[in-house]
Amino acid sequence: MSTPAIAILGTGAHAPAKVLTNHELARLIDTTDEWIVTRTGIRERRIAGKNESTATMAAAAARAALSDAGVTADQIDLVILATLTPDLPMPATACLVQDLLGVPARAACFDLNAACSGFIYGLDTAWAMLASGRYHHALVIGAEKMSSIVDWTDRSTCVLFGDGAGAAVLGPARGTAQILGTRLYAEGAHAHLLSIPRGPKPVIQMKGREVFKNAVRQMEDAVREILEQHGLTAAQISSVIPHQANIRIIESLAQYLGLPLERFVINLDRHGNTSAASIPLALDQARRSGRVRAGDTTLLVAFGAGLTYGSALVRW
Ligand code: UT7
Repeated sequence: MSTPAIAILGTGAHAPAKVLTNHELARLIDTTDEWIVTRTGIRERRIAGKNESTATMAAAAARAALSDAGVTADQIDLVILATLTPDLPMPATACLVQDLLGVPARAACFDLNAACSGFIYGLDTAWAMLASGRYHHALVIGAEKMSSIVDWTDRSTCVLFGDGAGAAVLGPARGTAQILGTRLYAEGAHAHLLSIPRGPKPVIQMKGREVFKNAVRQMEDAVREILEQHGLTAAQISSVIPHQANIRIIESLAQYLGLPLERFVINLDRHGNTSAASIPLALDQARRSGRVRAGDTTLLVAFGAGLTYGSALVRW
């Protein structure tokens, strides 16, 4: 029995209004705009306001995705929220988002934590659930309030992260657009490299250099394997949407693939690393600006704490 084709029917995003520039950060901690730009490519990031939570940002992105897809909240029967910054340990923030959107009670709603790879993990999960025929329309959301778990006295991490949300509506393919494939991975042996240990005020701790080295290897593996599996060459990929962590990681992936940097969607200069929100935020901006068009084949690729990593191929 062949499985039904499932597609991304629409996307949406939300970025908080407040911008925090490198220059502003340099007045708060011992850093410079020059160091941050040279080492990471980041120039500014968005910071959630007092009344903005992971749930409200997720709901805003989801509303935009529903409208883009022409799907109503009462057609949704699955909400997967990828986040490492849930509003509360329980209930799942996906349930708070369900309530904000008016998604009906027959929907399954849960959070998923695969850190910065969360959106690709969510895409894979929702795709499988929809292809089973037991669910019909899904919201896959990546939303993060990273500003709440950053150690604002640690210059090696606090300059990297930002807040935001991105969302996709998945449903039965309407034309030739469809999700072609996904690959997920995890290497728990490296879990200690990037974590939020328990403590009075839990904050991110990271061995940046080691994460960097692993990220390059993992993204290359995730890309090589998915291209091989689908009999595609890098040249046949219209655009790559990588996790937005560090421009130097993206540059080394571009070099490995033999693709010009122009083929990559990059917004980390304006948003920093928004973890699970990073790929859907960049994807929505790329679609709305015409960078991703009907007929294109897009490659998504991420890495993050776990260490998790993964890739996805999407035809539009
Ligand atoms: O989504 C996954 C999240 N994680 C990542 O993406 C992290 C991947 N890693 C990285 O992006 C890079 O490793 C960093 C950007 C975090 C750091 O860049 P690096 O080139 O690996 O620098 P480093 O950690 O080797 O530090 C070099 C120097 C150190 O000084 P010394 O020991 O050489 O005197 C740091 O103390 O840079 C110093 N430094 C800073 N200086 C100014 C670290 N952070 C800063 C800063 N401003 N913000």
